[in-house]
Amino acid sequence: MSILDAALTLVATCHQRPHPAFSLRERRATEQRIRQQADELQRTAQALHAEIAKRHRAEEALKAHRDNLENLVRERTSELRAAKESAEAANEAKSRFLANITHELRTPLNAILGFSQVLQLGGGLDERQQQATQLIRQSGEHLLSLVNDLLDLSKIAAGRFDILPAEFDPDRFFQAIMGMVRVRAEQKADLEFICDLPAEWPPSIRADETRLRQVLINLLDNAVKFTCRGQVTLRVRFLSPSRLRIEIKDTGVAMSEQQMARLFHPFEQVGDAQQRALGTGLGLAISQHLVRLMGSEILVKSQRGEGTQFWFDLEVGAPISQI
Ligand SMILES: Nc1ncnc2c1ncn2[C@@H]1O[C@H](COP(=O)(O)OP(=O)(O)OP(=O)(O)O)[C@@H](O)[C@H]1O
Ligand SMILES: [Mg+2]
Repeated sequence: MSILDAALTLVATCHQRPHPAFSLRERRATEQRIRQQADELQRTAQALHAEIAKRHRAEEALKAHRDNLENLVRERTSELRAAKESAEAANEAKSRFLANITHELRTPLNAILGFSQVLQLGGGLDERQQQATQLIRQSGEHLLSLVNDLLDLSKIAAGRFDILPAEFDPDRFFQAIMGMVRVRAEQKADLEFICDLPAEWPPSIRADETRLRQVLINLLDNAVKFTCRGQVTLRVRFLSPSRLRIEIKDTGVAMSEQQMARLFHPFEQVGDAQQRALGTGLGLAISQHLVRLMGSEILVKSQRGEGTQFWFDLEVGAPISQI
């Protein structure tokens, strides 16, 4: 029964049993007011019904949207997962291919290098033949270092690069590095190579000797390569008994902020064409990875007119004499 029906029934009942205190006119007026208010109530109730129905429809639509969205997210997530898995598989295959091919290239290259050395040492070559064997050897060495860099890079990309720390004599280690760099620096007439090393070394330090050598040689090689005149300085000091700071400073062509931002990316060579011809742009990318695996970071500062400085700190374990 609607509200209006209920109100009219009430008015009819009043008619049938009129109250003595009400005049006919008053009853009519009251009846009229009840009728109006009942009408009003009825309209409000209808509007409320309409509003509830509207909300209900909106909720239904929202739920449909949500379900649709959840389905869409589920679909996209599974698509993305499949794409990620296939990209990882492709990347893994690429790294494996690179690792295999570079490994395969090293064997014939070592033979070429070995036999050109045998030819050089054997004597009996005229000048043209000597120049040719020298060129074979230099090109072979260049190719071998490129192949080794690519092998390192593919191992790093595949997360298969291990740092193997061991005890070694730091004095002998740095003397050997100095020797290698000095030979290269001496080929430049106006370049001085300065070594500022601790006056006293502990008998041993703990680090991955091979990988530390690789980093230092690349940084020092770069310093010599990109400096025509002035100095290249290797400075090593203990920040604490177990922490080394290694700095390589040069007075060569400096780099801008934008160049430095790209410095540690593979194949990035930020110099001009002539400088780019001097390498491949892998050395710093590999060096930074190696130093990060050693728990540190190579930092760089460069100033036009002054030169460039690279440095990093290295935890080298407590020297044996102090344990
Ligand atoms: N000491 C430096 N002074 C000026 N520029 C430098 C210096 N060291 C590196 N660079 C710039 O950074 C680039 C990247 O150096 P990186 O050692 O990675 O490559 P590369 O020396 O060109 O080749 P690679 O080391 O693979 O033989 C260099 O090509 C050069 O432009
Ligand atoms: Mg280099």
